[in-house]
Amino acid sequence: AQEPKWVQRLLDWYDVNKRDLPWRGVGDPYKIWVSEVMSQQTRIEAMKPYYDNWMQLFPTVEALAEASEDEVVHAWQGLGYYSRARNLRLGVQEVVSNYGGVVPMDRKSMESLKGVGAYTAGAVLSMAYNLPEVAVDGNVLRIYARLYNINDDILGAVGKKKITALVEETLPHDRPGDFNQSLMDFGSSLCIPKSPRCSDCPINSSCEAYANGTTADLPVRIKK
Ligand code: ADE
Repeated sequence: AQEPKWVQRLLDWYDVNKRDLPWRGVGDPYKIWVSEVMSQQTRIEAMKPYYDNWMQLFPTVEALAEASEDEVVHAWQGLGYYSRARNLRLGVQEVVSNYGGVVPMDRKSMESLKGVGAYTAGAVLSMAYNLPEVAVDGNVLRIYARLYNINDDILGAVGKKKITALVEETLPHDRPGDFNQSLMDFGSSLCIPKSPRCSDCPINSSCEAYANGTTADLPVRIKK
């Protein structure tokens, strides 16, 4: 299948506008893993000081694996959802005891780790190892729902499955890590939930919702 035009345009936009984040461009799967778990319920700007402090305290998988649960929970103080910190420590301990301290390079092993779901596995594999893996979160669901004018509920299984298949189809295999991160930056600055900034959007000419005037109605989210 031919790559849609918007994919390269989004990568070009990312090359110019990407945020400078401490775990970017270092290829360290542990750092990316920590940053993804920390940013799951916390805004990037708010979590950054915690991330920097964490890396001082626990710079490697070995350092985190050896830390006590109390130390780890203490360093998480302020971020909330403490099970994330406890699971991260347990997942990292599995890496040390079962994978020789090397974060696994395949989805099945990654997803077997404590606290690691499909999104985190895809984020780490694509960003650290440049493997062609998708990382579908709420941003990605919203962006694709608009680009492809998808009316299915993105909180439901059908919508998620449909969009995940589309992301897999459109993922550029030469730059999967950059592509996944371009979607994150794009979703947090331009293709935002309320009042998307369509007139500034580098890919509005490829957006079906923009063409149809349905950007305000998408994505569909049906809360149960
Ligand atoms: N949000 C979650 N992970 C991110 C990342 N790697 N870059 C930007 N925003 C993010």
